[in-house]
Amino acid sequence: MNPGVLVKYKDFLPVTPGTPLFSLGEGDTPLVRCNRLETEIGCRELYLKLEGCNPTGSFKDRGMVVAVAKALESGSKAIMCASTGNTSSSAAAYAAYCGLTAIIIVPKNNIAPGKLAQAIVYGAKIIALKGNFDQALSIVLNLTKKHPVTLANSVNPHRIEGQKTAAFEIIDTLGQAPDYLFIPVGNAGNITAYWKGFEEYYQLGRAKNKPAMMGFQAEGAAPIVRGHVIDDPKTIASAIRIGNPASWQKATAARDESGGVIDMVTDDEIMAAHRLMATKTGVFGEPASAASLAGLIKLSRKGMDFSKKRVVCVITGTGLKDTDAVLKTAEPFLEAPANSAAVEKALGWG
Ligand code: F0G
Repeated sequence: MNPGVLVKYKDFLPVTPGTPLFSLGEGDTPLVRCNRLETEIGCRELYLKLEGCNPTGSFKDRGMVVAVAKALESGSKAIMCASTGNTSSSAAAYAAYCGLTAIIIVPKNNIAPGKLAQAIVYGAKIIALKGNFDQALSIVLNLTKKHPVTLANSVNPHRIEGQKTAAFEIIDTLGQAPDYLFIPVGNAGNITAYWKGFEEYYQLGRAKNKPAMMGFQAEGAAPIVRGHVIDDPKTIASAIRIGNPASWQKATAARDESGGVIDMVTDDEIMAAHRLMATKTGVFGEPASAASLAGLIKLSRKGMDFSKKRVVCVITGTGLKDTDAVLKTAEPFLEAPANSAAVEKALGWG
């Protein structure tokens, strides 16, 4: 049985005798080898880390369980976050489990419907902001300073601590770090967390190597790549529609220390990777999560040689949160009346 992140990795986390140890079953996510994509892309080994298999369907649960445990330990009664959807789903679920109030601020009409449904069903106090994620985060940073509410965004270092456990799991499974880690970048907490995890295991001698960190933003929301804040970020990948990432400097430090890159992919490249991943590996990620694979495909097409490399792409969230992204652009499919002959006819069998 998976004991959860707090118990499994307690020696590596800010756990004290006063920290409540609980779990919704986060962590221990699959690392799936993808032979068909290896051949197509020309990698020696390609794995997808399926973070959509966490309890609320994204990697956020790893950090949220630590942030909420520490909030409880400090006597807090409420947590608050800004979100493009996944952080708020996770905050709402863990708050519900522990009997805390979750207050979430999300961009109005700009989060995937599954994520909004999660926040509603878990009983969060929801504010739909007439503004974008960056504005929501700045309001949350302001209000959590003024009121007795715990900040649940990844600016809270406990979130990063929990999220670094995904890097531990990759090393625990492969026996070493991959050569490259491809990861979507939005608010830049996750790339920061993975790098911290790889670095810590390396320092402890649990891995002999560290990966190059390959972060990918969406082209219309690529402040780090462009070197300036984007006031009105745009991308179909709503989870990473962020123009002023809170962990900007830490992400560029991870890139530079690891010898990696932070680059961008277009919405078309993201959606092509999203479809390829589903049709060639059976993995349904949400659009933002496919930015990692889109990045790998982009670099391999540009001539980068992965034929001797072991590569991991982090698939950060499940596609079931954002079925609109598929249904709105779906090709028409076959329909038939309810009898065998009609179905045979529709299939061209007679
Ligand atoms: N992938 C998904 C599915 C996400 O939800 C996010 C971020 C990212 C990638 C990027 O991770 O921000 O650590 O660089 N979602 C946040 C949210 C912003 O509010 O749910 P990051």
